[in-house]
Amino acid sequence: MLKRDIDTPALILDLDVVEENIRTMAAYFSARPQKLRPHFKTPKTPEVAGRQLEAGAIGITASKVGEVEVLARAALGPVLLANQIAGAQKVDRLFSAADRVEVIGTVESEFNLRELEEGAVRAGRSLGVIIEVDTGMHRCGTETTAETIGLARRIMRGPLKYRGVMGYEGHAVLVPDRSKRETTARAALTCLSEHVAALRSAGLAPEIVSAGGTGTYDIAGSWPDVTEVQAGSYVFMDGAYRIVRPDLGQPALTLLTTVISRRGDRAITDAGMKALTNEFGPPVGKELPVKISRLSEEHGHLAAGESEIAAGMKIELIPSHGDTTINLHKEYYVVRGDEVVATWPIEGARAFR
Ligand SMILES: Cc1ncc(COP(=O)(O)O)c(C=O)c1O
Repeated sequence: MLKRDIDTPALILDLDVVEENIRTMAAYFSARPQKLRPHFKTPKTPEVAGRQLEAGAIGITASKVGEVEVLARAALGPVLLANQIAGAQKVDRLFSAADRVEVIGTVESEFNLRELEEGAVRAGRSLGVIIEVDTGMHRCGTETTAETIGLARRIMRGPLKYRGVMGYEGHAVLVPDRSKRETTARAALTCLSEHVAALRSAGLAPEIVSAGGTGTYDIAGSWPDVTEVQAGSYVFMDGAYRIVRPDLGQPALTLLTTVISRRGDRAITDAGMKALTNEFGPPVGKELPVKISRLSEEHGHLAAGESEIAAGMKIELIPSHGDTTINLHKEYYVVRGDEVVATWPIEGARAFR
């Protein structure tokens, strides 16, 4: 089948570009002490995670237990769940996944530490954990070095294994201006290093120090205390990241949509909010210089101007945010050039529990 014959709306993955993006990032990390643990929240399919591991990644990062389960079923790991979880159901699912693949959990307070400890007792097994430090994003994480040391000591007294710390500088990764991004990321990493130094002086040297995203992969990836980087979006390079890191990869992910109406300077496509997200800005054309001005439930509104765009035409759009767009779909149509070479189920889509 050819790409133009795919029924729409459909997510297209350009496999040559995916492989190139994986190679580029793997090459950056190949000869340095810091390693790559790519984030699964972007591709959500073991097909990509497996390729990232083959290229040298030391493991995979996940944000939800549902994602950990997808990776465990595919026997791909070790998996770092770089997020806090609450509730016995989730905790027990995490320990079950740990029967199939090595899992590292994350804690930020006595509350989630106790949740995981109770899970360890129920499961009759241990789990490695790291401590999340708030390095300036103000989402989760310990706020003082005393709190981090206290939590590390607390972990050591219980059934879980203390492995280290993470500090994701999410407030820096999408800052468009390179020097502002660097300043923000360096401040966050300096904060992380203060926690690392305090832990070392307390005799609690962390084995894992995890940080970084696509926008800051090279800042975190060359920071002496950092041992691994959690970048995820680099593998597909969505519209938002193409603006922030034009130096990095090519866009691998597009949404194929069909024009269903053309009237005057207005064209309407068959991909609305149920197929495409726009929280990071409007999706833009891959080949045609078009911009979706508005998404409604089932429709994309396109300012067609004087263009030749006509009803029946298929248009490939680059989503501004890949992760949330992918979450709406069941499968990728995988292409090499114009040829569809596979369809990959997106097992991690809607794995938000
Ligand atoms: C904990 C965590 N680590 C890493 C990332 C890196 O993601 P990206 O590569 O999209 O910047 C994210 C993004 O949301 C995250 O939440």
